[in-house]
Amino acid sequence: MPEATSPFTPSVLDGKRILITGGGTGLGRGVARHLADHGAEVHLWGRREPVLAEAAAEASANRPGSVFFHTVDVRDYDSVDDTMGRIWSDHGPLTGVVNNAAANFIAQTKDLSPRAFSAITSTVMNGSFHTTHAAGRRWIADGLPGSVLSTLTTWVWTGSAFVVPSAMAKAAVHSMTMSLAVEWAKYRIRLNALAPGPIPTDYAWEMLNPTDKSSVGATQADQIPAGRTGTIAELANLTMFLLSDACDYLTGQTIAMDGAQMLAGPGTFAGLTSLGDADWQQIKDSAKAATAS
Ligand code: HXC
Repeated sequence: MPEATSPFTPSVLDGKRILITGGGTGLGRGVARHLADHGAEVHLWGRREPVLAEAAAEASANRPGSVFFHTVDVRDYDSVDDTMGRIWSDHGPLTGVVNNAAANFIAQTKDLSPRAFSAITSTVMNGSFHTTHAAGRRWIADGLPGSVLSTLTTWVWTGSAFVVPSAMAKAAVHSMTMSLAVEWAKYRIRLNALAPGPIPTDYAWEMLNPTDKSSVGATQADQIPAGRTGTIAELANLTMFLLSDACDYLTGQTIAMDGAQMLAGPGTFAGLTSLGDADWQQIKDSAKAATAS
């Protein structure tokens, strides 16, 4: 499939200053380049400096000097608040925050230790709150608008076996999105979230496909009605729309972009998505024959 092209002008994010947590790897790293290419100043947060430096260089390839990085563990509020303060004083106020930092692994819940549970929930839930709070209270104090976009999954609506701490923590961020959309609307601060289906990235891909059995894992394209996985370019396009000035009235929403994967799951007939026209003709013929007899 050809990569989705951008529907936006290269200046759509001019004047935007956007933070991406967990921006050194995976989806955050991929989206950063698109934001920079469309005029934004981008700040990447992560725990490993060499990885961040490489990601920043990659993301700013077309616009040198547009991407900065900071070593921050989002689980630590003091570190989050301190770094947020330095961005504000050294660069200027952010206009948007992407809560992208995540931790996850597949495990049987009965085997999880309390430390394992908290390694995941403290990154996803606490980290998203810390970052949102540190930016939000500055926007409110300065009388500035802001936009928060959190990267979630459709598990916020359905739950998901074998990734229970992640499903719980992302559901909490979904709740934060709805709650603060109401509380902070009067300050012109919007909160939205994206729930992408599987999009290939190195680490998450390996982690979500724990065996070489094709029927196991979260990323099989044949279980997605659209017949394929998503792309970073598609995620970036939606991200740019939500972080731009195009939709100030849109807040409190978690938007799934998953090729209808979630909607296919709960339906009784979801397994029939693999049938072709000939199969359906046969089903029709059989049904007609049954009613005629
Ligand atoms: C069981 C495990 C485990 C595993 C770690 N632990 N891996 N338990 N199965 N596979 C346990 C450890 O034994 C320890 O508990 C506790 O978890 C903490 O482990 P540490 O390694 O000390 O923690 P930390 O260094 O903070 O590492 C956190 C991490 C790591 C989650 C384990 O993988 C990480 O930092 N990942 C960040 C990137 C990431 O996960 N990205 C994926 C996002 S994908 P004990 O009790 O033994 O001390 C995603 C969803 C995609 O979010 C959805 C697509 C549809």
